[in-house]
Amino acid sequence: MLLKDNVYSVGVIDWNNREFHESTYKIRRGTTYNSYLVLDKKNVLIDGVHQSYKNQFISNIKKIINPKKIDIIILNHIEPDHSGAIMQVLASCSYNVIIYSTRKAKEGFLKYYNDNVMLYNIEWRTISSFQEITIGKRTLQFIETPMMHWPDSMVTYSKLDNILFSNDIFGQHYATNQIFDDDLGIHCSILFEEAKKYYANILWTFNPVILSKLDILVKLPIKLIAPSHGLVWRKYICRITQQYINWASNLLKDKVTIIYESMWHSTEKIAYSMLEGVTSEHLDAYLFNVTKIDKTDILSHMLDSKGWIIGSSTNNRQMLPVMSTLLNCIKYINKVNTRLSSVFGSYGWSGEAIDDIKKVLSNITLTLNQFCFSCVFNPTNDELNECYNIAKQFAIRIKNNNII
Ligand code: FEO
Repeated sequence: MLLKDNVYSVGVIDWNNREFHESTYKIRRGTTYNSYLVLDKKNVLIDGVHQSYKNQFISNIKKIINPKKIDIIILNHIEPDHSGAIMQVLASCSYNVIIYSTRKAKEGFLKYYNDNVMLYNIEWRTISSFQEITIGKRTLQFIETPMMHWPDSMVTYSKLDNILFSNDIFGQHYATNQIFDDDLGIHCSILFEEAKKYYANILWTFNPVILSKLDILVKLPIKLIAPSHGLVWRKYICRITQQYINWASNLLKDKVTIIYESMWHSTEKIAYSMLEGVTSEHLDAYLFNVTKIDKTDILSHMLDSKGWIIGSSTNNRQMLPVMSTLLNCIKYINKVNTRLSSVFGSYGWSGEAIDDIKKVLSNITLTLNQFCFSCVFNPTNDELNECYNIAKQFAIRIKNNNII
């Protein structure tokens, strides 16, 4: 598909994928693995696709040019969803192909595909940030974006086209045969929902790095952002870049996310009382049983919530396992004192879950004992009233922006 004069999208659509990174990231709408072909005096292929789609990928390229006419391959990132089919490309293109990537990408690629790479006579050029190459009318500039989200990550910018080939950055897991954001018309909110989920699950941990790199990227005069997953940003470039800045700088909403895991519904009763307390202050609130709702969707809500209320029953002297898995996903995000958290739970005789959760949260949010609650077995009405009042005070503190 044509993106712009002599710039084609040659990637593939993975309609049926519901587990990205195997089971660690559940996706609801499939995904795409985007690759781009830039035809100029030198013909350039930017990124590849998952190895499952190698034949379709080659076929897509062949619809535009003979793969033997590819002069340059740019690898912005070597995670296998983008590098998996590159060996097939190498087998199809000429022996004089040049690969451009970061040094880390070269090391990673050789480790993944070691023996097979040696079969080809590749000239591999490692780049440094802001280095440019001229491919005819076009100049391509490379910008390293390490830990956004792997050490090898970089982006490529076409100065003539004002296209940022951003790889995973600004990606969305959304299988569609459309190409541009505005092709979705009134349904474009899906893209922002998926972009947010992508950020929460793939990028959130790297917030401090991301902010500094965004500062460089948003200064480029961009007309298209062509990521490696999902649709190309054309109409909503300002909106998605601003969203990224907001998420990376922890700009939080007056919103509370309540998450719980319960053995015999006692902790669940507390969760619902907490919800009523927050709702009584007319604050935006969302409640999730972590065993019923996938953690990838819950993380999306946590990303921009000013308040987290998190509870678990105690079993085997610890919090319950699904909650533990969720908290493992966030325990290395940077501490934000503008986020307030509350911890709760029912227990039988020892109650270690409360301290387990506090230990994780106090490293990443402001966690105050006055907003924490625990009780033995089934909560009484008085105890549920107490939870209601705790959550009400919690909500008032958030509403008044009086967290720190
Ligand atoms: Fe889409 Fe980091 O791979």
